[in-house]
Order: sequence, then C-alpha cells, then structure tokens
Amino acid sequence: MEYKIPLFDLNFDEKEGLAVAEAIKDNWISTGPRCKAFEDRFAGMLNVNHAISTSNCTVSLHLALKLVGVEPGDEVICPSLTFVATVNAIRYVDAVPVFADVTSYENPVIDPEEIRRKITPRTKAIVVMHYGGFSCDMDAIMEIANRHGIKVVEDACHGPLSEYHGKKLGTIGDVGCFSFFSNKNISTGEGGMLVTNSSELSERSRLLRSHGMTSMSYERAKGHSTAYDVVELGYNYRMDDIHAAIGLVQLDKIQADLAKRAIVRKLYLEKLASIGGIIVPFSGYTEFSSNYIFTIVLTDSTFAKRDRVREQLAEAGIQTSVHYPAVHRFSIYKEFYTELPVTDYLVDNLITLPMYSKLQKFEIEYISENLMTIIK
Ligand SMILES: Cc1ncc(COP(=O)(O)O)c(C=O)c1O
Repeated sequence: MEYKIPLFDLNFDEKEGLAVAEAIKDNWISTGPRCKAFEDRFAGMLNVNHAISTSNCTVSLHLALKLVGVEPGDEVICPSLTFVATVNAIRYVDAVPVFADVTSYENPVIDPEEIRRKITPRTKAIVVMHYGGFSCDMDAIMEIANRHGIKVVEDACHGPLSEYHGKKLGTIGDVGCFSFFSNKNISTGEGGMLVTNSSELSERSRLLRSHGMTSMSYERAKGHSTAYDVVELGYNYRMDDIHAAIGLVQLDKIQADLAKRAIVRKLYLEKLASIGGIIVPFSGYTEFSSNYIFTIVLTDSTFAKRDRVREQLAEAGIQTSVHYPAVHRFSIYKEFYTELPVTDYLVDNLITLPMYSKLQKFEIEYISENLMTIIK
C-alpha cells in the first residue's frame, strides 16, 4: 500500500547523485579523502576533537564499548526504550545489559535515579540514548558516572546537532555514536560516526576500525606508508568514499533541514494542543533539537486501543510507527528481564507520527484532524 503521508522522506536531490559520480570519477571509492573531509566537517559542526567514520552506528557502539574498556561479565546500564542495536552492542563484548527505566511519559529518556539504583561494583559503563534527539539529563548522569568511575557512551543516533547546556549531544560522555541510516537526519544509506575528545580513544578506534592495521590502503597508495603491522584484533568497520560523498552533501543541508523540522514540530504542537487523551513527550523542551521523530503517547490506553488508532490512521493514508518495541521484552533478552513500568506503558501506547523537513502544513493538519476524530 502506498501511503498518502509516509513516516519519513529523504532530503535528497540531484546533488547526492552528482557527488557520488564525482567520487567515482576521482577513481578512489574506498575509505579516503571524502571520509576524511566528512569526519573533519562533522567534528567541526559538533565542536569535538575527533570524528571517526564507520560503516554504521551499530559497529560504532561496539567499538565504543571496547574503547571504554568494557569486558566480559561487566555490567552496562542502558535503556530498554531504544533500538535493539544499543543493547546488542553490549552483548557483542559479552557484558551484561542492566535495563533502567525512563523518567516519565513526558520525558522518556533514561532516569538518573534508576541508574543510581542499579549501580553495583560490576558496573563499568552507562549507555544513554537521546530519544528523538532530546537529551537525557546529562548533568546528573555525568555526576553519577564521575563519582563511581564509570564510563559513559552516548547513543546519539537521533540527535546530530542537538544541544544540551551549550554542548552537542554525543560530545558530553566519553564516546558518542551516530547513524546515517537512510531514515536518519543525515542519510547515507548505511553509515555511522564515532566521536570523542580523547586522542587516545580516537587513535585506538581507527586501529580497531580497520583490522588493527597501522596504515590504510589510501595512505599506501599515496606513498605515505609502504608497510603495515597488525597490532590488535580489529574489524572492518570502515565507511567508504561513496557514502562519505553523500554524507558531505547531507551536511550542507542539515542546518536548513533541522530548521524546517523545528517548524513541523511547532505546528504539530499547536494542532495537537486541543486533543485530549494524548501526551506529547518533551513538549516543554527548550534546547535545540534535531527532531528526529515525533511521538505521542495515548493516555488511559491499551496496546489494543493504540493498534486500532494506528490502523485507522493507516486507512487514512498516514504511515505511523512505534519507536520502539521494548528491548527487555525480546526473546533474546529474557535472561536480563526486569520490571520497567514506565517503559512498558510507553511501548504499548505510543505512536510515532510522520516527521521530515518536507512535511507540509496541510499534511500536519490532515494528520492532526484524523487523529482527533479517531481518538474521540
Ligand atoms: C537509537 C539507535 N541506536 C542504534 C542504531 C543503529 O544504527 P545503524 O543502523 O547505523 O547501525 C539506530 C538506527 O537504526 C538507532 O536508532
């Protein structure tokens, strides 16, 4: 079925295609100068010392946990209200995910009080996820982490250029991870970035990203290096110059894209204000946000009622989604199950509405009017 209004639409035009053609014409398509340019510009935009491009965010998260020294059997505190990759990365290093609830329906990001309660002598790291591009309470989280000597990894997939107290999300903890999957604010198809202010972690991430090798093909082709050693068990987690070429065009567009998304969010908030029976998370949020997704939560609702609302929206041609099914309820995470009442209600009763910069006023009105009629 073709939706009248999709959940997401790419902010692409002929420029992305031309940039790819240009990279091919230049005869270097694997990791090379375009990756370097993409990294440098991304680091500059985030005001962070180092940005290392990767093939996706899942591998960035894997590298991040290795970089901060998480070892088999260590505990890592994380949300369950996230994409499964946030937690899978903890399992890749044979660590134990300790799920923490989110603060509230209005503020569905990891609750610092829950983190405090769940710290044990085995806690090595906290992975936070800035849901929708809205920040976790990073002051409280960094204070807890510093007091206990625990590392912080930020899954900032939803929040490129989002801010918290003057800093960009992803640059506050030890390592930040970003995704450039097609439906993200910056889309390259597949793609990711790891950012850090630590030169030591940056150097090690470059090694681990490329088989633990001390030099890369591009450096050898350019005569900067003639041989290499392998000094660690690394991976092939590199981005290539074709994806970086698209990423560079997307960086040209990101500020304007986010400005339009902010207008979309404002219009939604105005239109939805008169609808009873829903909460719009982060309505009081005042910092700059990437507005990656726009979610609503049905109050006094049930899983079945939420699904009926989604079905009726689909009948009106409006695509919706649920960000996310709870990770702690997946079969594979049974052994790490714990009660998370706020997360449990949210995942059964939230709806993600369409959000992208090209969304028009009349479309937001159409979505809001349909929602009002359905919920009544
Ligand atoms: C919160 C979150 N974490 C991790 C990922 C994984 O990113 P990628 O698809 O680039 O591996 C995603 C993207 O889908 C995400 O939304």
